[in-house]
Amino acid sequence: MIRHWLGSAISRGSICALFRGAVVHMLIMASLCSRQVESLTSSEDVNALRALHSAWGRNPSSWDFNTDPCESLWLGVLCDASNTTVTQLFLINQGLSGTLTSAIGDLRNLTNLDLSSNLKLGGSIPKEISNLVLLQKLFIQFCNLSGQIPLEIGSLTSLQYLGLTQNSLSGPLPDTIGLLSKLSWLDVSSNQLNGSLPDSLTSQSGINNLSNGQHLYLQNNLFSGNIPESIFNTSMQLIDLLLHKNNFSGDIPSTVEGLIHIEILRLDLNQLSGPIPSNLRNITNLTALYLGSNSFTDSRVPSWISSHENLRLLSMDSSHLTGNLSADIFSLGPNLSTVSLASNNFTGSLNLSLANAALLLVNVTNNNFTSFVNSNHTVEVILHGNPFCSVNQTRCDELDNLQSSPPVSRNTSLCSNSCSDNSTFNPKLSGNCQCFRPLNAIVNFLALKIPSLEIYNLTLMEEQFAVGLNRSTVKSFAIAGSQIVIEPITPTQALVSIFPPTNYATWSVNDAALILYAINNKEILFPSIGPTVCAFIGDPYNTVAIANSRSTNGLSTGAKVGIAMAVIFFVIAMIIASLYAVREKKRATWIEAGEIDTGSPKLMAAHWFSLQEIRKCTDNFSQSNEIGEGGYGKVYKGYLPTGQKIAIKRAGSDSLQSAAEFKFEIELLSSVHHHNLVGLIGFCFEEGEQILVYEFMPNGTLRESLSGATDIQMDWQRRISVALNAARGIVYLHTGVNPQVIHRDIKSSNIFLDDRLFAKVADFGLSKLAPVDNDSTPLSSQVKGTMGYLDPDYFLTNRLTHKSDVYSFGVVLLELITGRPPIQGGKYVVREIRTAYAQGGMEQVVKSMVDPKLKDYPLEALEKLVKLALVSVEDNPQRRPTMTEVMKEVESLSEVTSIKSDVQGGKPKNTHLEEGTKAHMRQKLANLFQHSGNYTAMFANVQPK
Ligand SMILES: *[C@@H]1O[C@H](CO)[C@@H](O)[C@H](O)[C@H]1NC(C)=O
Ligand SMILES: *[C@@H]1O[C@H](CO)[C@@H](O)[C@H](O)[C@H]1NC(C)=O
Ligand SMILES: *[C@@H]1O[C@H](CO)[C@@H](O)[C@H](O)[C@H]1NC(C)=O
Ligand SMILES: *[C@@H]1O[C@H](CO)[C@@H](O)[C@H](O)[C@H]1NC(C)=O
Ligand SMILES: *[C@@H]1O[C@H](CO)[C@@H](O)[C@H](O)[C@H]1NC(C)=O
Repeated sequence: MIRHWLGSAISRGSICALFRGAVVHMLIMASLCSRQVESLTSSEDVNALRALHSAWGRNPSSWDFNTDPCESLWLGVLCDASNTTVTQLFLINQGLSGTLTSAIGDLRNLTNLDLSSNLKLGGSIPKEISNLVLLQKLFIQFCNLSGQIPLEIGSLTSLQYLGLTQNSLSGPLPDTIGLLSKLSWLDVSSNQLNGSLPDSLTSQSGINNLSNGQHLYLQNNLFSGNIPESIFNTSMQLIDLLLHKNNFSGDIPSTVEGLIHIEILRLDLNQLSGPIPSNLRNITNLTALYLGSNSFTDSRVPSWISSHENLRLLSMDSSHLTGNLSADIFSLGPNLSTVSLASNNFTGSLNLSLANAALLLVNVTNNNFTSFVNSNHTVEVILHGNPFCSVNQTRCDELDNLQSSPPVSRNTSLCSNSCSDNSTFNPKLSGNCQCFRPLNAIVNFLALKIPSLEIYNLTLMEEQFAVGLNRSTVKSFAIAGSQIVIEPITPTQALVSIFPPTNYATWSVNDAALILYAINNKEILFPSIGPTVCAFIGDPYNTVAIANSRSTNGLSTGAKVGIAMAVIFFVIAMIIASLYAVREKKRATWIEAGEIDTGSPKLMAAHWFSLQEIRKCTDNFSQSNEIGEGGYGKVYKGYLPTGQKIAIKRAGSDSLQSAAEFKFEIELLSSVHHHNLVGLIGFCFEEGEQILVYEFMPNGTLRESLSGATDIQMDWQRRISVALNAARGIVYLHTGVNPQVIHRDIKSSNIFLDDRLFAKVADFGLSKLAPVDNDSTPLSSQVKGTMGYLDPDYFLTNRLTHKSDVYSFGVVLLELITGRPPIQGGKYVVREIRTAYAQGGMEQVVKSMVDPKLKDYPLEALEKLVKLALVSVEDNPQRRPTMTEVMKEVESLSEVTSIKSDVQGGKPKNTHLEEGTKAHMRQKLANLFQHSGNYTAMFANVQPK
């Protein structure tokens, strides 16, 4: 029967809207009346804040409209001295969703606006922003803005800083940008901006009119055409010019020497041609030059490089360079410290015998060098992928590892107790074992002036950072007594942790907001290293708990399906699925108010539940059925009429996806079937609700088990089994479905344990279909994932590959080894274990890293696991194994580790298991390992329709 679903939804919706409208109107009227008496803040500003607040999913939730924004010091609101008008608004990483509405234009006295790191803040930049003529700093970075940058941006004539990096902005850079005569910092990188760069010769105005422009970051967009010559011969003050990863073509004009102040020039990853202008040598302050991956006609490294006074870094990867590499290149430049010439075709000998003392790093991966002549001082040389290494592997490994020993090693091992998951000791307070919750930020270095963070003086960086923080214009918080701890994550990323003073365990919400604001405001820079951008990406401790309550009912359907039966079952499921698909398609039109009809989701085996059915299952979302809560909303348990227990994930109003996204997730979920993936049973999309119904996972997440929140004993066998099964699930996504899928959010809180303690991977909310051809990976404008698991290469290049999942899985392996979450305060497990292993081998790893709860493990196998994890988290994705290789390695470990019993070791919560069932499962486990090689084959031929 076809219901009149659409019609009823609309009439219901519009009645609601009318009603809501009336209530809001009444509220506004009421508050206006009472406000005029007592409040100082102008009513325009209060009304604007109210409108923004409701458009932002009622965030920040602490704003109380019964109080005065200025006098009551609302979160993220700063006012003038008389408390009459809002001058600064900063809500960084505050979970804002919805859109930035035109109401922003009513806050006319704003000088600073920063809404960065609100990943769900979408929509376009309203043209009313042009009313903010006093605005000096505008930062909306790491959000979800789309549409074009409005022409009206040219009215913001007081603007000095404009940061819009990491959004989904498209269209051209408007020529009105040139009207911003005070602008010194323009960062629109990592969007999808296209067209040629406007300049005043071709348009009314353009970037060459930015007479105060010092920092221009346009990288990682789709800009094309020539680099306008006019930006080289103006009065611009450019210090950093980053144009890499675009589609710029044509020659670099010889007028480039007009960039007399330039220190960092990145032109790499474009389609530039012609010769490399030799008068780049005349730019005396040039410190870092990136030219790789273009089509220049030169086949040699420009000879002037060796005599440049200030040049510290030269990068010419993939530049079709051939022949011998002259030893002179490394000889004269007194400051040359980093040379990267990877993926060229140099032959003969790599001769560093003339290298000057400044040289620290030479990367010549993937060339044709057949010999290597050493210098007498320590240079890290990356020679992998050269014929020389095929016969001198050990030597190559040594040369490569020179740098990996870190300069600073802080010791907190004196502390015998441990902190909870999201707090940590301050490594700078040796002997003081207080647990803190520091504020964490990932700082990304966009272009390095120094060889690598690994060898940079961390203490000096920390001092610079502290000075910057103190210097920041936001003075209203007590920074005194705080401590900065910086840990390199990769050569181009660092984790900055700001520890509260010792009399506090944690920052207050207000102080945290102010500190993020200060950091994001570009007052905190590392001028000696290069330009940076800070990411505050989500709460790393936001664990998704689909289930942590006891299973009291019978076995789930999953348990009844033996491995031997899987093929038959799958065929039947396919038949049922196609029947469903036909029925369900008829059932509703996939339409949401204001959205384009994206078509019915192509359902495989997912059932379309009505909201009424869901309400019934969960006893109207009763609190007693709540089993978890996270950033996305709440999870409830429930039972289907068949008695099957289910987990119901209900998106909160902040986490609603667009209809298209939701549809994509359902389609994906319902098209992948593997016993190491949490299965989707159905969904509900009605009355603005987005609900996913999963099979119930009675034993919670891997994260919970590792942290001791469950009483499952995580012995060695269990950990290997979890690793193996999770790996199988991911391998299936990577190779067994067509089109292939990249999960993008592999983490221990997305790995669940079923009633038999088998691991299953869940949560495909961020998943993406893998591109067919890896070399032409489309750039996704936004990096998504969870801090600590995020592939640094993906973060840096936006290039998503299967290897990003390998990285995340490597981090999960490290968790299995150490028991710790990836980031504990200021410490990143990847770096910790890498250091420990490099410094003291397995002995050191066992002493300082291995989970004390892990006993009776085979040391040899553990070492193999450590090595596997470390190679999986290599910075360079090419050096990481594929997921299939990872799975095979874990498989070989599980073979040495005899799987004694699936439940014996631990005390699983589902104590209802009968002895007979256990024996049955043991048999199945045995089968599982026997058949493991066939999994991918089994599903590879099945393609979702
Ligand atoms: C403005 O508000 C702040 C915070 O409540 C208060 O300390 C200050 O005295 C107020 N200034 C005026 C002029 O009312
Ligand atoms: C705020 O802006 C309005 C409109 O531009 C102006 O009339 C008012 O004087 C300003 N208030 C302050 C305190 O600057
Ligand atoms: C080059 O750098 C030095 C040191 O930072 C600075 O004093 C000088 O003004 C710069 N020269 C130019 C042309 O910008
Ligand atoms: C650039 O440098 C070259 C070689 O050092 C020199 O001959 C030339 O005159 C310089 N050009 C300018 C404009 O200074
Ligand atoms: C690299 O150089 C060698 C010798 O100059 C040449 O034979 C070979 O074809 C080159 N390879 C590539 C990929 O250009």
